[in-house]
Amino acid sequence: MPNQDPKQGSNQNSNEENGKQQSRQQFSSAGAHGQGRETTHFGFEQVPVDQKEKRVAGVFSSVASKYDIMNDVMSMGSHRLFKRFTVELSGVRKGHRVLDLAGGTGDLTKLFSKIVADTGTVFLTDINDAMLRVGRDRLIDEGIVGNVEYIQANGEQLPFPDNFFNCITIGYGIRNFTNKDKALVELYRVLKPGGRLLILEFSTAQNPILKKAYDIYSSFWPKIGDALVGDSDSYQYLVESIRVHPDQDTLKDMMTQAGFDKVEYHNLLSGISAIHRGIKF
Ligand SMILES: C[S@@+](CC[C@H](N)C(=O)[O-])C[C@H]1O[C@@H](n2cnc3c(N)ncnc32)[C@H](O)[C@@H]1O
Repeated sequence: MPNQDPKQGSNQNSNEENGKQQSRQQFSSAGAHGQGRETTHFGFEQVPVDQKEKRVAGVFSSVASKYDIMNDVMSMGSHRLFKRFTVELSGVRKGHRVLDLAGGTGDLTKLFSKIVADTGTVFLTDINDAMLRVGRDRLIDEGIVGNVEYIQANGEQLPFPDNFFNCITIGYGIRNFTNKDKALVELYRVLKPGGRLLILEFSTAQNPILKKAYDIYSSFWPKIGDALVGDSDSYQYLVESIRVHPDQDTLKDMMTQAGFDKVEYHNLLSGISAIHRGIKF
């Protein structure tokens, strides 16, 4: 059972995008074999599957203390609106048990904690202790206490029982996972029947002009990262990880394949981000 002590869960030996050969979008990075070892993408780079988690950890440990300010700068504040919309689509009510997976500094947790109130609980869960620590300090400073639990865990191997949560959200997290299919199956397991999974993530802009403009804008992020926080590499990874992330229909197929029903998505700003929602029946 979950508790306040951070737990480590970090086995990642499977193929990225396993079984997705029929998906609408093909990924050269998906479980490729490089010199006899299984590889996956880390941005545009191919890395051995067992090294991706460490590389991703390096990025988020590096950005943790400046994550919130950079998020506001680069998204021009739009992530806040998208997170509010995600909460609106969640159907979460007073007394519910919510998992904010890859919750980082806790934006979604903060919104949910007000809704579930004193009879519910939000589990702010992240693989990275630095992000979790920044999130915990921030929420406590803002007086959000009593109904939030902090768990350090890998989304691909969760320390929760079956049928445990009324709702699960992942905000801008899943594209960093090594094995997304494995995580989706795990999320299905811990969700209660009737519960909803919502995935807010960067996606593929549908309007070609907007897509071009966004590609140009985001290509400046490493420079902005360098200028504001002296870290261009992490923001280079951010740009690349967005570009290799599955498009809307591919992620929808992946959720369906993991067992979710009624999977649908809402494009935000023409698909620069999207919210996918699926139900466990
Ligand atoms: C871009 S941040 C998003 C934080 C927050 N949800 C938000 O929307 O602001 C991505 C988060 O995913 C976490 N993460 C990456 N891989 C993970 C995994 N396998 N399991 C759990 N969390 C993971 C990172 O540590 C990081 O905190």
